[in-house]
Amino acid sequence: MKKVLFSSLLLAGLALNAQAQEFPEDIKPLMSKYTCTACHKVDTKLVGPAYTEVAKKKYSDAKIVELIANPKPSNWPGYPPMAAMKNVPKEDALKIAGWINSLRKK
Ligand code: HEC
Repeated sequence: MKKVLFSSLLLAGLALNAQAQEFPEDIKPLMSKYTCTACHKVDTKLVGPAYTEVAKKKYSDAKIVELIANPKPSNWPGYPPMAAMKNVPKEDALKIAGWINSLRKK
């Protein structure tokens, strides 16, 4: 009995530790399709900045769409330049942009 209690406490602890935010279900497929996940996480730095950090820049949705197709590495000193992702259709880019900005309002 004691052992069971210990295991569940351990599991609860692990769950608390895993605080990294996940991509929401409607955004995740886009992120993998366009390989954004190779370089970006929701709230932690990977190769590129966390999307929560991008949200703090207070870009308009349209500006983010523009930056996905034509990144400006000078906006992110200390990071390698992002490859221009011109293969992302505008409507998908807008969806991503809207979600990035929603991270700020929370
Ligand atoms: C090969 C790695 C890589 C991939 C793939 C990648 N990014 Fe980036 N991204 C970066 C890096 C590095 C930066 C910061 C430097 C820069 O902006 O050039 C960045 C910056 C950004 C910014 C901030 C732009 C700015 O000027 O503030 C946005 C928004 C962004 N990425 C979105 C995306 C989206 C959406 C995708 C997928 C369609 C994507 N990125 C794919 C590496 C990547």
